[in-house]
Order: sequence, then C-alpha cells, then structure tokens
Amino acid sequence: MDEVRIHGGNRLSGKIPISGAKNAALPLMAASLLTGDSLVLNNVPLLADIESMRTLLAGLGTTVSGHAGGAEPSLTLTSARIADTEAPYDIVRKMRASILVLGPLLARYGVARVSLPGGCAIGNRPVDLHLKGLREMGASVDLTGGYVEARARRGGRLHGAKIAFPLVSVGATENVMMAAALADGESVLINAAREPEIIDLANCLIAMGATIEGHGTDTIRIQGRESLHGASHSVVPDRIEVGTYAIAACVTRGDLELIGARTDLLPGVFEILADTGATIIETERGVRVKGPDGRPSGVDVMTEPHPGFPTDLQAQMMAYMTGAAGASMITETIFENRFMHVPELSRMGANITVHGSSALVRGVAKLTGAPVMATDLRASVSLVIAGLVAKGETTVSRIYHLDRGYERLVGKLHDCGAVIERVSDGEVARDQVA
Ligand code: UD1
Repeated sequence: MDEVRIHGGNRLSGKIPISGAKNAALPLMAASLLTGDSLVLNNVPLLADIESMRTLLAGLGTTVSGHAGGAEPSLTLTSARIADTEAPYDIVRKMRASILVLGPLLARYGVARVSLPGGCAIGNRPVDLHLKGLREMGASVDLTGGYVEARARRGGRLHGAKIAFPLVSVGATENVMMAAALADGESVLINAAREPEIIDLANCLIAMGATIEGHGTDTIRIQGRESLHGASHSVVPDRIEVGTYAIAACVTRGDLELIGARTDLLPGVFEILADTGATIIETERGVRVKGPDGRPSGVDVMTEPHPGFPTDLQAQMMAYMTGAAGASMITETIFENRFMHVPELSRMGANITVHGSSALVRGVAKLTGAPVMATDLRASVSLVIAGLVAKGETTVSRIYHLDRGYERLVGKLHDCGAVIERVSDGEVARDQVA
C-alpha cells in the first residue's frame, strides 16, 4: 500500500502553484449534463475525485475529452446523447459528490436514479435538503433499494419554486441551482450557500445561457430556460489548497508564495493566520505567507458556512495549533464527527482534549514523528502538515484520501524543501498524483 514518508524539520520556502478547485470542478462537470452542446472546463485539477466524476459521466453517455492537470488542463464534456440516467452505487460510494448529477439529469430528462451516498468518515451527511428542493420543484422522489428515484411530475419538466433551506448546504444549493436553470419559471433559493464554488457554478451557468442573480448572497434567483448552450469556463483556484499550504508555511516557519491564490476566497483565514504571528503579503501573482519567527500564538477558531472559517481547513489549523505558545479552542459546527485526526495527532505528541464539538489544543514544544493514518481527505493532509515539523520520520498511510483532493501534494512540498516522498510498494514515486 502506498504511503507518504516525511522527515520533519525543514522550513518550506519557494513558490507553489495553486490548482483549480476540486469542489468547484465537480459540480461544473455535472453541469455539462444540462446541455447537448460542449462545455469546456479549463484549470481542472488531476485528482481521483475528478476521475471518478469523469467515469460517472462517461457511464451516462457524456463524451469527455482532454486532460485534467498539467500545464494546460482542459476538459471538454459533451452530453449530446445520454444513454442512461442512473448513477450506480459503485461510483457513488467512492465519491459523495456524485449526487450532483441528480438535479441536472432530472431537469433535462425528467428522470434520474442515483444511489444514496450513505454516511462517511466525518458524519452522517444526509441528502434530505437536495431532495426537499427538487420535490418543491415538482419532482416525485422515492427512496428504494438504496437509490433515489426521482421523476418530474408535470409533463417531465420541473417548475420554478421558492425553496427555503433550513440549514446551509453547499451541495443542495448546487443541485437545486442546476435544476432550476432548466426549470419552467423562476426559482428563489433562500438561505443558500455563499461559497466561492457556488459563485463559480453560477458564473458557468450564466455563460451557458442561464439567468441568475444573487449568487454569493444567501438569496439566489434563477429564471429557468428551456435549454442551455455550450460555454467555456475556467475553474476558480482551490481556496482549501491555498489555506493548506499557507498553514504549511506557518507550521514550518517558512516563506511560501502561493501562485494564483486570492485572499478574497478565504475571508478571515489570513487574518487568523496573521493573529498567530504570520505575515501575509498580496503579490502580483498570488499571496506570500511567512510563518511566525517563534512559536505561533494560540488562536480560537470556529468553523462556519462561508464566509466563516471553512470546515475543510479545521484539521490543518489544529495541526498548526499543536505547536502554539498557549492554548487554542477549535470548534467544529458543520460536521458532527470531524475530529478523526485528534488521536493520530496525539500519537505524535499533541496535547488535545475533545469536549463535544470543541477541541482544546494545548501547545507543545515539539511533535515527534510516528506512523499515522487518517480516514478522510483533510485529516490526512493535517497529518502531513504535522509531519513537516515533527522530529524524525512520519509515515502517513491510506493516502488514497490525499489523491482525492490534492494535486501533486508530495511534489509541490518537495519542490519547496520538504523531505517527503511517496512510497509505492517499497518504491519511491515522488511525481505521482499525490
Ligand atoms: C461540501 C464540500 C465539502 C465541505 C462541505 C462544507 C464538495 C464536493 N464538498 O460538501 O468539502 O466540507 O461542503 O463546506 O463541495 N446536510 C444535511 N442535509 C443535506 C445536505 C447537508 O443535513 O441534504 C448537512 C451536512 O450533514 C452537514 C451540513 O449540512 O452537516 C453541510 O453540508 P454541505 O454543505 O451539504 O456539504 P457538502 O455539499 O456535502
């Protein structure tokens, strides 16, 4: 089994190119189902999740050409002849974001059958809000045999609706937005998610002919169209990758320029890093992050929907705070079980006490390397971050999680001075996907 080996202690220094956002690219790929024309997506990262979405769409009948990753990453997706409207369990179980094909399939074909994603390592993660929105747009939805079976009741076409979400969901907002773009009449999404990936999806749908207002606020208005057309769109930079490397710079007291990074995509996060003692400088090409000279100050962090602190950076922030001078309280409000990294960080010498949804992190002078493993993507990368400063060797196993969401992680860190390698069946393979 592949693992990542890190010898901690080196300061990171240099430039890291930021890839396109996985969480933007996945719904954008699903949006290609809304038209028979070609959708060209640029800046698509080479990741296992992108490959899973490609396989899922190809199974439905979408032709996908081009390549993700590399110098000029570009995918062309054409859903001219959809042969199937079913997303099977085998793919959905690998990637929850597969549920994002539900809205587009239902809106364009009036019918869709998508496997229920089920729980995952970070919590229960239901899809009730996705289904609520689609039901209110005139879909009948049955749950049978582990599948969502949905059908547009009125003449095979969804209608516009006023949909108030009881809690903010990124995925439900995306699914309903895509469906509403082809529905009959106006839809209003209330308490919608405001993440940059939602704005990116809205901009792509607008380029495809949709009329959308209010994206980036909690109320989104969409005038449905009878059909949408092809477009070309560039995926927004990955703000979670930016935050991850910014924290890696801080942890190692290093100095990294994150090429393509934008501070506006991470409101509050750079301020929090500055509070720990880091220096943040906007440059012509991105953002430069210089870690604190000594141990960072402890800061309290609470995850919230955008524009709050992202849950997808909570584990990385915790790894950073294990070395703080003082204590830090980290509270997770989005997912109920997102502290899976705590026991692993503790095995490296961290002092963390969990009380319900909060973790009290008391800074220690030094972590020590250890063999560790994690059960989800962001937890895995937090262990890599801890390994970058730990004394001695850390090996992180189950790195297929990293392959799902970080393009060339090992190569990017190695290029900036980290002693890190990917070992594949005993062989060093630094330039593989992770
Ligand atoms: C997306 C991101 C994920 C990120 C999360 C929160 C993608 C592919 N993934 O996931 O990386 O951590 O946003 O920023 O973009 N919920 C319900 N019912 C639903 C839907 C959600 O109760 O129908 C709950 C979830 O269990 C969770 C909360 O709402 O507690 C937020 O989840 P949501 O925003 O939907 O996350 P995802 O879209 O799955």
